[in-house]
Amino acid sequence: MVYTLTMCITHGHLLVTSLLLLGGWGKKKVAVFTQAVAKLIAERTSQLVDSKPDFYAAVTGDGGLHPLELWGEAIFFVLAGGSTVATAICGSLFHLSWHPDVYARLASEIRKAFSSGRDIQPGPILSSCTYLRAVIDESLRMTPPAPSPLWREPEVVATDKPFVVDGHIIPPGTEVGVHLWAIMHNPEYFDEPFTFRPERWLVPTDGDTEQTAERRKSRAQMRRAHVVFGLGDRSCAGKSMAYMEASLTIAKILWYFDFERAPGKKGSLGCGQGGKNPWDAYDQFQIHDVLGADHDGPNLVFKPRPEQCEDLDSTT
Ligand code: HEM
Repeated sequence: MVYTLTMCITHGHLLVTSLLLLGGWGKKKVAVFTQAVAKLIAERTSQLVDSKPDFYAAVTGDGGLHPLELWGEAIFFVLAGGSTVATAICGSLFHLSWHPDVYARLASEIRKAFSSGRDIQPGPILSSCTYLRAVIDESLRMTPPAPSPLWREPEVVATDKPFVVDGHIIPPGTEVGVHLWAIMHNPEYFDEPFTFRPERWLVPTDGDTEQTAERRKSRAQMRRAHVVFGLGDRSCAGKSMAYMEASLTIAKILWYFDFERAPGKKGSLGCGQGGKNPWDAYDQFQIHDVLGADHDGPNLVFKPRPEQCEDLDSTT
């Protein structure tokens, strides 16, 4: 372990972080994951660096990458860019399967906005699907893909003034952070935090009444508290890409398919156990904090929409 850490410090902190990220997984998952990453690396390095305009081409540069750096980058990007978006999509599908009214409204928005599955591409029409964005934001809130605290240390500055957070003096060298899942379920920011309600994210349109002004204020407060991508200099570099991937995938799914929870016990994968805590209710998607959010399910049954799937067949 000492050897690994020394090498990592020489070749960048990324691998240390990446190895720590895997710490919360069981041995079996880590083995499957590292095999998959090894395969990705072997496949990509067998091709010329500039054969594709991808991350590998961008980070390799003239000097090439040390194998440890390559592993660090690969593990980091699969976790930071892959499993996070997977959680965002799975969470959205889980919540849609529990809320038929939300499902119907979203399906109607997508099916009215586009005239064929091929038209569903990143661009102004997809961006105009405001209910889709609200569903994704609400799902990110209920099941943040990176739920852990993002630890920060006060910057050392030459001043006599103590560094104060929420009335507490934070001594130099002390790291502070708040669990993101806790912020996302704090009723001070989010009314009825365990209720999946995408409508809370929609911009009020019913005239400039006092009630609307109040809603605008509470929406602005929610926006400030919705920090699932972190804040500041080190906040998520892939935020726009994450929204684009999640929007595209969910819109395409709803265009080509209808879906519902699998019948019987199979459909309970990923659900709470119905315990007395609000987060354990059946309709709460269960995530496990391993810095990223590990999860099982949802287990869904997809039914193709025959007319729309003809288009799918002709384009593949
Ligand atoms: C829903 C999906 C995603 C969520 C919730 C998410 C969340 C986060 C969070 C919480 C951080 C740490 C921010 C901080 O410390 O303040 C982060 C960092 C980062 N994310 Fe994401 N992320 C997502 C998707 C992506 C994607 C798709 C990519 C790239 C393909 C990506 C690349 C990165 C990178 C490079 C950093 C490190 C930034 C830095 O340290 O300067 N993320 N992300």
